Amino acid sequence: MTFTPKRAQESLIQMTELVLPNDTNTFGNLMGGRLMYWMDIAAALATMKHCSAPVVTASVDNISFETPIKLGNVVHIEAKVTRAFTTSMEVHLRVWGEDPVQQYRYKSNEAFMTFVALDPNGKSRPVPQVIPDTEEEKVLYDGAMRRRQLRLVLGGKMKPGDAEELKALFI
Ligand SMILES: CC(C)(COP(=O)(O)OP(=O)(O)OC[C@H]1O[C@@H](n2cnc3c(N)ncnc32)[C@H](O)[C@@H]1OP(=O)(O)O)[C@@H](O)C(=O)NCCC(=O)NCCS
Repeated sequence: MTFTPKRAQESLIQMTELVLPNDTNTFGNLMGGRLMYWMDIAAALATMKHCSAPVVTASVDNISFETPIKLGNVVHIEAKVTRAFTTSMEVHLRVWGEDPVQQYRYKSNEAFMTFVALDPNGKSRPVPQVIPDTEEEKVLYDGAMRRRQLRLVLGGKMKPGDAEELKALFI
């Protein structure tokens, strides 16, 4: 099965949420788990937009929370597919907080997630390739193979010796 490749930009999802009391920890900041839930949904929407099929989360790369997002602030999440492999897609997510009264934005965190497209029987199915256009999209596309190999090695799905692109960084 082959598909027409799609531009990275076509998968862009921009999600906006308001941090309410039920979303916060005891310090009055957005809980990490709630943010990861919203990020998971934004990434799922971006990958479904890319492949026009149902998807599941295969893995989440490390997430560092750089700046807390406060109660009453706005959360902006952008998710875009960086590269597609055979049945999996890598998504890049960026998160900002915004003080809606003072009207300034601050970066909260970034992450990469991997989703797999499924057919009606719940089996992984092929996805369209990604065409990167901008300089940033090209950099993310080029790095995606190394990140894929690293996560598959860490997940026990690839032997370190087979991770050619990763090895090239060190040799
Ligand atoms: C993700 C899942 C579909 C992979 O199934 P699998 O039987 O391991 O399938 P395969 O080995 O054929 O791999 C399918 C794709 O998943 C990718 N994959 C598998 N494990 C991965 C991991 N840990 N990280 C990144 N990609 C992974 C493979 O690289 C492959 O991608 P490719 O076709 O582009 O090369 C399966 O493990 C699953 O359904 N997991 C549960 C998903 C879920 O419920 N998520 C919600 C949170 S609970």
